[in-house]
Amino acid sequence: MGVTRTPLIAGNWKMNLDHLQAVALVQKLHWSLKDAAHEADSVDVTVFPPFTDLRSVQTLLDADKIPFGLGAQDLSTHDSGAYTGEISGEFLAKLNCGSVIIGHSERREYHAEDDAVVAAKVAQALKHALVPVICVGETSEDLEKFGASAVPVAQLEKALESASATSEIVVAYEPVWAIGSGQAATPEQAQEVCQKLRDVIREKLGEDAAERTRVLYGGSVKSGNIAAFMREPDIDGALVGGGSLKVDEFSAIIRYQKHVGV
Ligand code: PGA
Repeated sequence: MGVTRTPLIAGNWKMNLDHLQAVALVQKLHWSLKDAAHEADSVDVTVFPPFTDLRSVQTLLDADKIPFGLGAQDLSTHDSGAYTGEISGEFLAKLNCGSVIIGHSERREYHAEDDAVVAAKVAQALKHALVPVICVGETSEDLEKFGASAVPVAQLEKALESASATSEIVVAYEPVWAIGSGQAATPEQAQEVCQKLRDVIREKLGEDAAERTRVLYGGSVKSGNIAAFMREPDIDGALVGGGSLKVDEFSAIIRYQKHVGV
């Protein structure tokens, strides 16, 4: 009965790698996975380069038929107009972007994006047929005050306001204290929250959506800990920051199925 969710390993490059470096990394990553074709086939890989790299990476993926998804790290709440510096979902869709990260804690913190902005961005992504990768997570203060799941659950409830039962979305649970800190959540902690996030999807969008939607864990994911996260029933992949910037490390994360015991 249960739907099989294809694992998704997503690389969020943040403000790293110019377009030449991005192209070089994608090429090397593709080569490094070729000898493991059948393992890589059972895992979806998506890269999220900076805006200025998107066109170059898209051209390379098309020309060399590299089976990686392409995504952007943010989008505007508007379609077009006098919004200096912003990028619309329409432009991203034209570049064959399939998805877009929304509500990353770095956007929430440094660009004052609140839940209303996140919900508006989710609506824009869906309008332009981009899969929103909705990031939620608690700070260390939230963790002390409310426990691990209260804040991410509330964030997701608000982010899903414009989604419907048929919307394709991805949810990423990223505890803020685990991002870039080298201190990942334990697989058990992450599983507990991811299960609650799936419950939110079930309540808001129905059983089918809950079964089909991929819920990722993010925050200090490395080749040494990915397999343990992927053993958890409600963790369907990872959103990887630092670990996605080096070919060997990202390649090893993508090939987690080869790690002992998975
Ligand atoms: P990290 O970042 O893997 O470097 O902790 C994850 C993220 O911010 O998505």
